[in-house]
Amino acid sequence: MPTSASRPSQAPKAKSNLIRTIAIVLLASIVILGLVVLITWLIVRPKRLVYTIEDGSIQNFNLTNNHLSADFDFVIRSYNPNRRVSIYYDSIGATVNYNDQTLAFSGIEPFYQRRRNVTRFDVKFTAPSTALSSSVSKDLMLEKRSGKIQFDVWLKARIRFKVGALKSHHRTLRVSCSPVLELSRPKNLKRTYCYADI
Ligand SMILES: *[C@@H]1O[C@H](CO)[C@@H](O)[C@H](O)[C@H]1NC(C)=O
Ligand SMILES: *[C@@H]1O[C@H](CO)[C@@H](O)[C@H](O)[C@H]1NC(C)=O
Repeated sequence: MPTSASRPSQAPKAKSNLIRTIAIVLLASIVILGLVVLITWLIVRPKRLVYTIEDGSIQNFNLTNNHLSADFDFVIRSYNPNRRVSIYYDSIGATVNYNDQTLAFSGIEPFYQRRRNVTRFDVKFTAPSTALSSSVSKDLMLEKRSGKIQFDVWLKARIRFKVGALKSHHRTLRVSCSPVLELSRPKNLKRTYCYADI
């Protein structure tokens, strides 16, 4: 009687034991995998990239009937402070802006930045008679009269990280700088620190 009674209950019990074992193994694997990823991340964790504007100038400034033409020239310094991470810059676009209005575009050649490398770019922008809203045009004219104008230089780059032989997928790097240009003296800028975010 005990054998015949216990038989039907034994099969589900073995089955639930099996399921429990699988669940434990699965959970343990997930935890271990998570730890490995976390430890790897802590070891190679990319440090924030350091961008500064080293110099800059504005020339041929002409603001007529709410249209701006001007030539901008910036020396941008890019520093990769990482000891284990190098970076592929697959595309880089740059803009000069004033009060959130874009005045001019430019591009930077794609490049590969090694660990702890400093790379400088000379980036030239031309505002080709850019149409401005009348309020932006008015503010720009007022600021021009003071002899100094604060612009915003934004970079947007598609980058990949490389650690050893491993390459990450694409990330978007955004850099924002607010250099103040003096109209009377070309190439006189104080170093401006930028904010870089991924
Ligand atoms: C400024 O721009 C206006 C219109 O775009 C043009 O007529 C004028 O000649 C320019 N002035 C200078 C000094 O280039
Ligand atoms: C950084 O890398 C660029 C391009 O590979 C190279 O031309 C430059 O000399 C490097 N700079 C330093 C400080 O190593």
